[in-house]
Amino acid sequence: MSDSIKWKSVKKLLLQAAEETAINHASGLGSKYVTNPEVYIDKQKKMYDLIAPASDSKVFEIGPGVGYFGYICEAMNDNILFEYHGIDCMIDSHNQRWKEDCCYYEMHKKLGLNEKIREFFISPQEKIEFGLVFDYIVAMQASFAANWKTNQTWELNDHIFFLQDCLEHLSEHGSLFIQHNVNCLTDEIKSLYQGLSDKETISSGGFKETIFFYITRKRLKEYLENLGVIQIRYVLPSDMQAPISTEGGDEVKPPLVERIQSRFGIDFSVFKEAVTWKGFLIGIVMFSVIGYSGLSII
Ligand SMILES: C[S@@+](CC[C@H](N)C(=O)[O-])C[C@H]1O[C@@H](n2cnc3c(N)ncnc32)[C@H](O)[C@@H]1O
Repeated sequence: MSDSIKWKSVKKLLLQAAEETAINHASGLGSKYVTNPEVYIDKQKKMYDLIAPASDSKVFEIGPGVGYFGYICEAMNDNILFEYHGIDCMIDSHNQRWKEDCCYYEMHKKLGLNEKIREFFISPQEKIEFGLVFDYIVAMQASFAANWKTNQTWELNDHIFFLQDCLEHLSEHGSLFIQHNVNCLTDEIKSLYQGLSDKETISSGGFKETIFFYITRKRLKEYLENLGVIQIRYVLPSDMQAPISTEGGDEVKPPLVERIQSRFGIDFSVFKEAVTWKGFLIGIVMFSVIGYSGLSII
């Protein structure tokens, strides 16, 4: 079945689930997602198209809400190797656990996402229980950085801790696609994310570069290394993915070259740069000229 035909039937099913849920959830937490579903479903599909997950990849979503994105991921991929996992705090703004009267709860049940979305509350400076290494970490309209329990928004350090945690759970070619709820971000934090984001990818996907951020693991690693906040807790290569324990025994030895580089502060990657070799050649020529002139004086 072609992707567009598949998508038509997936969208139809999502609209139907939302319509049925809206009957009993015309108001309350998350009701806008089921009373006016099309705009949200289309946004999640756009997001899915932007990351275009490979059929054997692993996707991790933070705060899925009704679960449109998770369902799209599962339904558009029939490869058994594909995995979607989500976490959500599953509480409302009064600290009450979602119950039958919450539309998120109802939608997860309808879309068969109960097993895929785990209960987990993200708190500042606390590691997320990822459980695995992922190819994509996704968080749309994320509100975890505005803590309902303490009524405080995260500080810059909390975002850096979160980004480091993501780095450690992204596969080598992995990426983070994130849109924070605008109220969670100060200008300083916004510019941190903007500086890390691949703006071309964002705009090519039809998203606004100032609020949506697409951050590759490579870019994140460079940034955090420069900042000096990581001692490269090396993540397994994507072809060797294995569950990561949160017990601290999850550190895997980096390859020998990386260990030598960090031990002696050498960056071997300069040998891949053309400019290094140009400089080297110029050095040899100059050395020969000077040497020859010295000899001819004698
Ligand atoms: C505004 S909804 C976004 C839903 C969906 N991602 C979207 O794009 O429409 C925010 C979601 O994040 C969850 N959430 C909020 N704070 C959280 C936290 N501290 N830890 C985990 N999930 C959280 C909420 O329960 C909700 O499902």
